[in-house]
Amino acid sequence: MQFKAIIFDLDGVICHTDHYHFQAWKQLADRLGIPFNEEDNDRLRGVSRMESLNIILEKSPRLYSDQEKLAFAEEKNENYKKLLMQMTPADLPEKTLATMQELRARGLLLGIGSSSRNTKLILSRLGISDFFDAVADGTEISRSKPDPEVFLLAAEKLGVLPAEAIVVEDANAGIQAAKAGGFFAVGIAVAAGHPAADYAINSIQMLLDIIE
Ligand code: BG6
Ligand code: MG
Repeated sequence: MQFKAIIFDLDGVICHTDHYHFQAWKQLADRLGIPFNEEDNDRLRGVSRMESLNIILEKSPRLYSDQEKLAFAEEKNENYKKLLMQMTPADLPEKTLATMQELRARGLLLGIGSSSRNTKLILSRLGISDFFDAVADGTEISRSKPDPEVFLLAAEKLGVLPAEAIVVEDANAGIQAAKAGGFFAVGIAVAAGHPAADYAINSIQMLLDIIE
């Protein structure tokens, strides 16, 4: 199969912000007295901020109003943005950058498809604001993964059809989104075990095995 583009998820694929998400939610959950562990956190991968909050509140003994929930989501995001300020270009693994450069040298367009509304901030912290050919993120979509909207938008911006593009995802919701959109889905980390993934990798460099 001759692919024209690769669309990367951001959190947990390009960089390890997934751990910052965990820490930021954990601070909120601890304050509210709600149990929250790494296993719960896996359910939040790829899922929007408000949907993530609703999943965390499933374990809460009390109900909260929409206004309280908005304040909690904002509180978590403030915790999260403080953690993001620790990031520097050194947090972009050298092998990830080298692999993406090699994929580009082999003729592929490179894009980002992320549910995060902090995508541009993260790309800037990593020093790769202008690196990708197209970026589609949580500020531009109304339906989060597992809906394919963000990947379809990334493909449209890249000028390719879904069938011509690979999506790389660490989230089960992201694999579902990629398949729902008609993309070739590559699973990494937790998502490498997803039954719907077309291909599983345990490092970004393994993408070079499927691209001539
Ligand atoms: C996804 C993460 O990339 O972005 C989720 O995997 C997160 O865990 C979602 O909830 C939304 O992120 P943000 O930065 O808009 O709160
Ligand atoms: Mg992810």
